[in-house]
Amino acid sequence: MNIGIDKIGFATSQYVLNMDDLATSRGVDPDKFSKGLLLKALSITPITEDIVTLGAAAADSILTDDDKATIDMVIVATESGIDQSKAAAVYVHHLLGIQPFARSVEMKEACYSATAALDYAKLHVTANPDSKVLVVASDIARYGINTPGESTQGSGSVAMLVTANPRILELQNDSLAQTRDIMDFWRPNYSTTPFVNGMYSTKQYLDMLKTTWAEYQKRSGKKLADFAAFCFHIPFPKLALKGFNKVMDKSLPDDVKARLKENFEHSITYSQRIGNIYTGSLFLGLLSLLENSTSLKAGDQIALFSYGSGAVAEIFTAKLVDGFKTHLRQDRLEDLARRTAISVKEYETLFYEEADLDDQGNATFSDYLTGPFALTGITEHQRMYQRTDGK
Ligand code: HMG
Repeated sequence: MNIGIDKIGFATSQYVLNMDDLATSRGVDPDKFSKGLLLKALSITPITEDIVTLGAAAADSILTDDDKATIDMVIVATESGIDQSKAAAVYVHHLLGIQPFARSVEMKEACYSATAALDYAKLHVTANPDSKVLVVASDIARYGINTPGESTQGSGSVAMLVTANPRILELQNDSLAQTRDIMDFWRPNYSTTPFVNGMYSTKQYLDMLKTTWAEYQKRSGKKLADFAAFCFHIPFPKLALKGFNKVMDKSLPDDVKARLKENFEHSITYSQRIGNIYTGSLFLGLLSLLENSTSLKAGDQIALFSYGSGAVAEIFTAKLVDGFKTHLRQDRLEDLARRTAISVKEYETLFYEEADLDDQGNATFSDYLTGPFALTGITEHQRMYQRTDGK
């Protein structure tokens, strides 16, 4: 039985910060961000958007009533949790109106957990072929004003419906993971922003890629030439490019190398305009590839490199199915161009606003732009979500 991604959707915030503006304000040469990191803009969320509103919006863009009546598992993969106990998936399940007899859980391992969620979904569908599983990768990457990581922030959510006989991608059974106990990036419970050993993290990313890819090739017998494209976790596109150069086999014919490079460029198109969305960023790269490449065809295999700090990495692969293109959008860049551009001052206020709770645990928020769902307030320590688009 073939199992994989039947539908894939995406949501991000309504506000965007231009990298040139950030560079000017921080006294940095704009080329450092545009050429050094390959970034153009970052998606900035107000306090009324979080992993729940973004995740529900991404899923809402792909699910039909029939899907909602059939889904029996909802997994939210995130490292931007809003509660230490209650899973964000429970809120998402409710906001979407998914039938009640479903399992809803949250998974965590930095930027890696959506890959594990996808595998869990695959195993669930293997055991229950009529099931549909909703996997949501949702995060807000927030490092802090004037920190080295500030230029690599972002926010967004990717939703994937995992089923038997998928209409976009079949997941193959040849994945290989690697775990390494390191302190490259972590966020203790008492901190709202992560601690980061930036340069060390980039070295670990590249070394985990090199060693996992070498072992994957040994075990699977596959090599780069077997793939039409290679997608990477994209903390910022320049690091993914370094990853691409690391796996490149220079002995391949020029046309094969050129096709892989062209598809790599398509895979970073969205991230260049959104920034890091942590566990969703590999899948945003996949979506960007699928929606923007004109050379991909049914039967083509795609390799994916997942990396979550701490660290866990995985190489897994997928095969495109007949007609995949008809289940994807062609106009997503226009959506991104419609976001409201904000100044650095506005970004500093908007992105770091925290709930001002009274003694009873109540807070209200200003009326910011959001997608179809919003966090409208906090009442007695309970987060209040609402559908705001009148549907
Ligand atoms: P930085 O201060 O921007 O580093 O920090 P830099 O000074 O090395 O500059 C970056 C690049 O810009 C370099 O290019 C410079 O040469 C170039 P490279 O040499 O590497 O090719 N540059 C210029 N280019 C053109 N014109 C100029 C110019 N000036 C400099 N004028 C750093 C970079 C990544 C450390 C920082 O952004 C950071 O700490 N980010 C957060 C951590 C991160 O993203 N790590 C990535 C690996 S870990 C990971 O992927 C996991 C993660 O997603 C979290 C999770 O798993 O949950 C982060």
